[in-house]
Amino acid sequence: VGVAVRAQELAEEAEEARSRAQERERELAEVAKFREMFIGIVMHDLRNPLGAIGMAAEVLRSSGELEEKNERLVARILSSAERMSRMISQLLDLTRARLGGGFPLEPKATDLRDVCRRVVDEFSAHIELEIEGDLTGRWDQDRLEEALSNIVGNAIEHSTKGSTVSVRAGTDGAQVSVEIINRGSVIPADVLPFIFEPFRRGEGRRSSQSGHLGLGLYIAKQIVLAHGGTLDASSLDGKTSFVMRLPRGHRVCRPAASPAPDSLAL
Ligand SMILES: Nc1ncnc2c1ncn2[C@@H]1O[C@H](COP(=O)(O)OP(=O)(O)OP(=O)(O)O)[C@@H](O)[C@H]1O
Ligand SMILES: [Mg+2]
Repeated sequence: VGVAVRAQELAEEAEEARSRAQERERELAEVAKFREMFIGIVMHDLRNPLGAIGMAAEVLRSSGELEEKNERLVARILSSAERMSRMISQLLDLTRARLGGGFPLEPKATDLRDVCRRVVDEFSAHIELEIEGDLTGRWDQDRLEEALSNIVGNAIEHSTKGSTVSVRAGTDGAQVSVEIINRGSVIPADVLPFIFEPFRRGEGRRSSQSGHLGLGLYIAKQIVLAHGGTLDASSLDGKTSFVMRLPRGHRVCRPAASPAPDSLAL
């Protein structure tokens, strides 16, 4: 009789485990569906009307018929629409990184010189660019451009007036590195360890006031990690430096999906 009871218990346990697994599968499928929906809504339902606002403002601006006062208003509409569009892209990136199992990369033969030059050209500020050695590898150039652009943008924003941002790219053979240096007020030592976390911003500044979400460095780091590289920061004696190191790209890591941050409450 004891054997029969034990067999019965085992069968019940197995059944329970099966239904738990099914429940988990259903939950995962639901999260996946929600993710698709969220990305779809952001991509389509927010981007399209925003694009229309931008386009209409652009048409008004180039019409040449605006009074000076209205011209200023139109310029304001345009820059706000651009800022909003940038924030939407960042939120999409965050969603992909957190819920989608890392950044989807499309690595191909790339010369990091070209990437650096494009990033430097993108900004109107004067940037000192030093490039040395063979900087070829297999990387996702658009993503690297985005990462570098986030770091260089910060460096310009936080520079002391009249100082110059430097971008130095080089190699030790196996790896390539890019260092971005600026002079300005330093990142406090107790803040430095957290600056790559999402929604982390310098003290006292709110995203609603500045149009910054505090996602630039988080996204930059995720992109570098997905390439199997590292991104580090140091900030001392009025000088802040970010160093990106990349293997030449024989392997591409896809970091495991991690839960959504509380602040997004997905
Ligand atoms: N070169 C720098 N010098 C001084 N502080 C910096 C520098 N780069 C980043 N920081 C600090 O790190 C914080 C996080 O940077 P991050 O790029 O992630 O966010 P953000 O620039 O505030 O917003 P976003 O990039 O999303 O528009 C910044 O708010 C700023 O306080
Ligand atoms: Mg930034």
